[in-house]
Amino acid sequence: MLNIAVLPGDGIGPEIISEAIKVLKSISEKRNIDFNFSYYDVGGIAIDKHSDPLPQSTLNACKNSDAVLFGAIGDPKFDNDPDSTLRPEQGLLKLRKELGLYANLRPVKSYSQLFEFSPLKKDRIENVDMLIVRELTGGLYFGEKKSSKTSASDLCEYNINEIERVTEIAVNYAKIRRKKITLIDKANVLETSRLWRKTVQNISKKHSDINFEYMFVDNAAMQMIINPKQFDVILTENLFGDIISDEASVIGGSIGILCSSSIGKNRGLFEPIHGSYPQAKNKNIANPIATILSAAMMLEFLNLNEESRIIKKAVNISLENKISTADLNKNNPSTTSEVGDYISKKIKENL
Ligand code: IPM
Ligand code: MN
Repeated sequence: MLNIAVLPGDGIGPEIISEAIKVLKSISEKRNIDFNFSYYDVGGIAIDKHSDPLPQSTLNACKNSDAVLFGAIGDPKFDNDPDSTLRPEQGLLKLRKELGLYANLRPVKSYSQLFEFSPLKKDRIENVDMLIVRELTGGLYFGEKKSSKTSASDLCEYNINEIERVTEIAVNYAKIRRKKITLIDKANVLETSRLWRKTVQNISKKHSDINFEYMFVDNAAMQMIINPKQFDVILTENLFGDIISDEASVIGGSIGILCSSSIGKNRGLFEPIHGSYPQAKNKNIANPIATILSAAMMLEFLNLNEESRIIKKAVNISLENKISTADLNKNNPSTTSEVGDYISKKIKENL
């Protein structure tokens, strides 16, 4: 029995999570795998119900589960009040920290069926296949914060151990991919970046089979648009990774298909990259594929590789046959639940 803590969260979170659960239930039927799903509040809904974006019961459940499936958090009603002390995002940040999820993996691929949806030209994006490895529990997000009426500061701090452990993850993936790692930093200006570069350079000496490159983040932002094919594994710190991965998401044609995993020692949380998309809430129009592919990443983490492959294949078939929400099929869009139904059906049929 695999215990999955399910955290639907805010906005479209509950709708896209339902579709991922639907797909996982088809896998369960087809392949005889026993999942136990239990649901917990996080984010804005948890603030409304428990006055806490990450209630203790949610945190405990995540700690005691085999994996966490996460929807989205955020609600505009909290955004325009910078003085508000409770914010939905705190729930996710605390969860990452408490579970020790120090590496965030964000694969970015261009699908041939979706070239026309990217604002970038086809010859730039065809054959793009990269994995962004973003450090997730350090840097500016978690350094000491100060603020007064007239000034504010966020401390960016990294220690060598935090850099080494996430670099090891990047190395392991590079070895089973195209054997290239690009460290993105700002080592011409920042002390933290110089420590990153020195640490990664030291580790690189042990891995002569991997080609290590070093790139400043401003240049990387440009390279991501003019020549994204050059990237295999990207390794970077927390804030740079946040920004670069949203930028990279336009390559795939829709942010609605990008999945992610956040991993630490024996723990994993799986979530779509997009946010809570409040404008689409309860309209049954949001693309569930990012969440369904996140569920596929979760199965891989649980060593269910064949099952993960089956989900990915079914997703591909849905894209090929244009059974897609409006972001990918303007003229004849399917609803969120129709996309989930179709993918489930393909799984139950003969894959
Ligand atoms: C992400 C999100 C989060 C982040 C927010 C919601 C705190 O943008 O997962 O990329 O900045 O890490
Ligand atoms: Mn982000």
